[in-house]
Amino acid sequence: MMRTRPLKVALLGCGVVGSEVARIMTTHADDLTARIGAPVELAGVAVRRPSKVREGIDPALITTDATALLKRGDIDVAIEVIGGIEPARTLITTAFEHGISVVSANKALLAQDGAALHAAAEQYGLDLYYEAAVAGAIPLVRPMRESLAGDKINRVMGIVNGTTNFILDKMDSTGAGYQEALDEATALGYAEADPTADVEGYDAAAKAAILAGIAFHTRVRLDDVYREGMTEVSAADFASAKRMGCTIKLLAILERAADGESVTARVHPAMIPLSHPLASVREAYNAVFVEAEAAGRLMFYGPGAGGSPTASAVLGDLVAVCRNKLAEATGPGESAYTQLPVSPMGDVVTRYHISLDVADKPGVLAQVATTFAEHGVSIDTVRQQGRPDGVGNEASLVVVTHRAPDASLSGTVEALRKLDTVRGVASIMRVEGE
Ligand code: NDP
Ligand code: HSE
Repeated sequence: MMRTRPLKVALLGCGVVGSEVARIMTTHADDLTARIGAPVELAGVAVRRPSKVREGIDPALITTDATALLKRGDIDVAIEVIGGIEPARTLITTAFEHGISVVSANKALLAQDGAALHAAAEQYGLDLYYEAAVAGAIPLVRPMRESLAGDKINRVMGIVNGTTNFILDKMDSTGAGYQEALDEATALGYAEADPTADVEGYDAAAKAAILAGIAFHTRVRLDDVYREGMTEVSAADFASAKRMGCTIKLLAILERAADGESVTARVHPAMIPLSHPLASVREAYNAVFVEAEAAGRLMFYGPGAGGSPTASAVLGDLVAVCRNKLAEATGPGESAYTQLPVSPMGDVVTRYHISLDVADKPGVLAQVATTFAEHGVSIDTVRQQGRPDGVGNEASLVVVTHRAPDASLSGTVEALRKLDTVRGVASIMRVEGE
């Protein structure tokens, strides 16, 4: 039975994502009505700058008072695409207090306050959906929350930030400079309002926290995620990666410990072999591997940023939430029953690529090798070459290790820095995906 009374939607934010949500809601209105079983009506659009021209949006819908829009009494669903912590957090809470279910794309807020927001949704018997918060258009949150709810996820590894993948891809494939590539990503609408969130890894860390919580049925906050950005990745790192048959990607890696008693969550640049599927993820695309006990390895791939792809995920949530409203039901809430602790980065075991500037004289290699051995880090390969900048009496030493705990590697690097013969540690990068 088709309901004729429309479900009313408040759109909070009408920027890169919000404007595409509004456009698709208008152009696909008939299909959305048929799929939901009732018409959906854009009942109000809250923005910061009311005088800005917004193509396709009735100016009468525009308001700067988002709170009043939520409190007016006829809104069924709010779509929060403002971003950041405040006023988004207060607006979502206000929505719940007024019987309004919420769809959000706000990973920063969900990673920081997801537990409280889920609790509020549950308290009021409402939905909180956020497919768009992780990996743009890629269906990932719902498959992990629902399709894999009967399985046990042990590992998640992926590229979850489009901006940094775009920059790294441009640096690698065209030799573009960092700033030039970032400017292009910003112009294309991929970057956050403050792109520091992208390039310093905060955005990927927020997504990692959300995914880890879902994957391991535990609570993981942004602060629990080890984070390194990609601003230090240099052309020399790419050249070194190429010599090893690798490229460099900013990865999010979430793992359940072998004993099942803890988890780790980290975001950092890493070298991966060119033969690895993640190596061929170009531009602002994202890709995520999920390893589950029964299902095996699953790969999710698609556009990870941008207005239209992200709006696709928002609208999928809108349809789901509207269907739930009509059925007088709610979708799954937070599942955090395992309460697994998050172990520190020092416990993570992986491989490393370390580039050292050393004195070019007898005995240096032995000294360096001894330092690794003293810290229990086993060397896989060593390559020595004259410094590319032609600095006399100095050589560049590239060491690739076998798997070792991160704490042992940190100890090794600290000791290497103290050696007279080591002039500097040019770069340290983890090697993944082998
Ligand atoms: P934009 O900066 O393009 O848009 C933000 C919107 O929020 C603007 O319309 C702005 O108004 C409005 N706004 C800001 N402050 C207020 C306020 N106090 N009250 C009401 N409205 C306000 O951001 P995006 O569209 O890029 O991102 C939105 C969300 O989606 C963020 O959480 C982001 O992380 C997430 N996201 C973004 C993706 C992307 O590719 N861009 C992909 C996946 C998720 P005005 O227009 O007047 O300035
Ligand atoms: N700034 C984010 C990115 C948007 O580049 O991935 C998508 O979440």
